[in-house]
Amino acid sequence: MTSGAEFRSFLRELVLFAGREVTHARKDLNVTTKGPVDLVTEVDLRIEEILVESLRQRFPDWSVFSEEGSARDVVEGKDCWYVDPLDGTTNFVHGHPFHAISIGGWRKGTPVAGVVYAPALDELFLATRGEGASLENPRKRRKPHPLRLRPCDELKTALLATGFPYRRDSTCRMNLRCVAEALTTAQGVRRGGSAALDLCYLAAGRLDGFWEATLKPWDVAAGALIAQEAGARVSDYRGENDFLWGGRIAAAGPALHPQLLGMLRDAHQEPERWPLGEPHLGPVPLHPSSSQEDHAHGERGGRS
Ligand code: IPD
Ligand code: CA
Ligand code: CA
Repeated sequence: MTSGAEFRSFLRELVLFAGREVTHARKDLNVTTKGPVDLVTEVDLRIEEILVESLRQRFPDWSVFSEEGSARDVVEGKDCWYVDPLDGTTNFVHGHPFHAISIGGWRKGTPVAGVVYAPALDELFLATRGEGASLENPRKRRKPHPLRLRPCDELKTALLATGFPYRRDSTCRMNLRCVAEALTTAQGVRRGGSAALDLCYLAAGRLDGFWEATLKPWDVAAGALIAQEAGARVSDYRGENDFLWGGRIAAAGPALHPQLLGMLRDAHQEPERWPLGEPHLGPVPLHPSSSQEDHAHGERGGRS
């Protein structure tokens, strides 16, 4: 049986190697599309090849399930690696640093090891079951330090994050309603563009909650363990455990998690309507005081 230390050292070396390939990728990338806005680059394909080959060599008894399709041999009951060679491809294509390599190992329905490496941010998140989660800055040679969620027990003081599917359909509109609910309930809402990193940011205490619908196992397999090991509750929108294959994930600290689920429930119960009420199409006042001033000037017949 592979120990936690063996998992960690293998995954760390593997993503550092693959990360160098991401960093040195040509700038004139060959980008193709899987859908109108769903991009794939030659880097996604190359990194996937490296990861799948190494995982198969080192763990011949495990299944590998990877996003770009080079490994889809998932078998029920078998240990499985879920691989996203680049989570946040749209960011990568635009030179936005919020993208990462993500590998999560699951055994009998439970995550056992996970790594998320963001080469452009020099951040490597790693976790093994029961042994905690850590963050290391490999290029700065800063050693791994343990991660803990930021204590936060009220939505009104929480910084939340979400993501949107590439399909611009009813799921997307539904999530806009969740965002509308969050904007009026929480302290702030962010959309980073990498679900794996969003979960790691939760683990690092930079976010307090994360939710998203229509994700795939490779998006969350590693990040979920990293968040759990830092103290988060991770579930589907009903509070149950079906977040790997179920597509919907909600993650936050134990005090905030029920409130996050409540917020998502409220948003789903709202009748279909414009998320923040009817759009206001009139002129936008520049500043409350300047608009009062303008108004006063207007009443006095304007500035002279
Ligand atoms: C996407 C990212 C994004 C999320 C999308 C995912 P990709 O993965 O995780 O944050 O909102 O739903 O598909 O396609 O960049 O690997
Ligand atoms: Ca992804
Ligand atoms: Ca991807």
